[in-house]
Amino acid sequence: MAKKFHIETYGCQMNVADSEVVAAILTAKGFEHIKDKNEADIILVNTCSIRENAEQRVRGRVQGFTEIRKRNPKLLIGVMGCMAERLGEKLFEEEKNINILVGPDAYLDLPLLIEKASKGEKAINIELSTTETYKEICPTRLDETAISGFVSIMRGCNNFCTYCIVPYTRGRERSRSHNSIIKEVVDLQSKGYKEVTLLGQNVNSYLYKEEENKVDFPSLLELVAKTVPNMRIRFATSHPKDMSDETLAVIARWSNICKSIHLPVQSGSNSVLKDMNRKYTREWYLDRIDAIHRIIPECGISTDLFVGFHNESEEDYQQTLDLMREVCFDLAYMFKYSERPGTKASKTMPDNIDEETKSRRLQDLIELQSASSLESNRRDIGKTFEVLVEGISKRSQEEMYGRSSQNKVIVFPAQGIEIGSLVNVTVRKCTSATLMGEMLTD
Ligand code: SAH
Ligand code: SF4
Ligand code: F3S
Repeated sequence: MAKKFHIETYGCQMNVADSEVVAAILTAKGFEHIKDKNEADIILVNTCSIRENAEQRVRGRVQGFTEIRKRNPKLLIGVMGCMAERLGEKLFEEEKNINILVGPDAYLDLPLLIEKASKGEKAINIELSTTETYKEICPTRLDETAISGFVSIMRGCNNFCTYCIVPYTRGRERSRSHNSIIKEVVDLQSKGYKEVTLLGQNVNSYLYKEEENKVDFPSLLELVAKTVPNMRIRFATSHPKDMSDETLAVIARWSNICKSIHLPVQSGSNSVLKDMNRKYTREWYLDRIDAIHRIIPECGISTDLFVGFHNESEEDYQQTLDLMREVCFDLAYMFKYSERPGTKASKTMPDNIDEETKSRRLQDLIELQSASSLESNRRDIGKTFEVLVEGISKRSQEEMYGRSSQNKVIVFPAQGIEIGSLVNVTVRKCTSATLMGEMLTD
């Protein structure tokens, strides 16, 4: 009988995409994917190391599997992804429940690791690669009801922002061949997907070289837009230092490329940005925001920010608030600095902002952002947006929800509208988190 595996995924969208690669690798070797972990022979947890609390959460989950193992003593527990890579063998010692550790570049080895673990040995492969892109693997889509899918276009990161663990857990940056990306996008389309998000830690530095040929990010984006004119295209994440006018022009030119850019700023202070090794200034960032407004006037803009990095003074922090007021982001993901062992900051830049200050700064940031989101949403009242319908609203069976090209969630009364269809909705009301509207019927 086929062995059954279950995958639980934490962390970023890259991990969601990787879990689908792992599902494909295991399915091809005769394993069967199941949704109920209680029935599984193997439970895999795809993990994130970006902040300390992300790791704590996974440890809690893994400890919780003890109950399932009591019922099924042969159960194998595997930890994959960034935590496996960062902690290695140490994780076997700290979490006795774990049988398998596999890093982000070693997933092709997983069938062998499972075989080894089922003989009672601890199995580990956390080797990083400079070339692995899993380009031969066509991912198994784990959420069959989804209409929006992810395609990784590159792996790893070379930026070494001083606070960040990703370059250590994901290894060096490498771009995947445009042909294999296109193949995967077309596969999504043939499976009925209506939207694709191209993924990488820094997508605008995408560069694939093949003999004389070079494909950069704007050319890839255009190639995808041309190949699947009926699909919506998104991408994440863009690094401000590489956000070129050329990329913006491609987004403006193609109606199926969503008018939405996620451009993490991290801080509004030049001295903090310098310590972070972000390689841009506040002025450069604001210039890129101006370029977005100029080239794609209707574009949605979101960001990531964190407070309490090494030496962040009250004045530095005020500059972040100031930048947020100036840009008025539609959406922001906000965090407190969490020191990650092994990073440059952990070695040379003491984590010297106390917890209380971090919490207060974060709280004020969240309040300001909530006011910005509300302001941005209020500006949409009376406007009509094309919405890709994603599902039935949690609040009411009579309402559906979907997203505008700008990536805002819109709820509207509708019945009998198919998930995956495109409808025009006029916004009538809003909160800071959601737009509410009416569908246009012609
Ligand atoms: N590659 C993307 C972001 C990847 S991590 C980029 O460069 O923008 C997602 C977000 O987590 C980051 O944008 C940053 O805001 C946050 N982050 C990363 N390391 C962190 C740390 N050590 N403490 C707190 N937040 C962190
Ligand atoms: Fe981390 Fe910076 Fe790379 Fe983003 S660009 S993954 S923040 S090192
Ligand atoms: Fe987390 Fe690794 Fe993604 S650290 S954010 S899962 S690349």
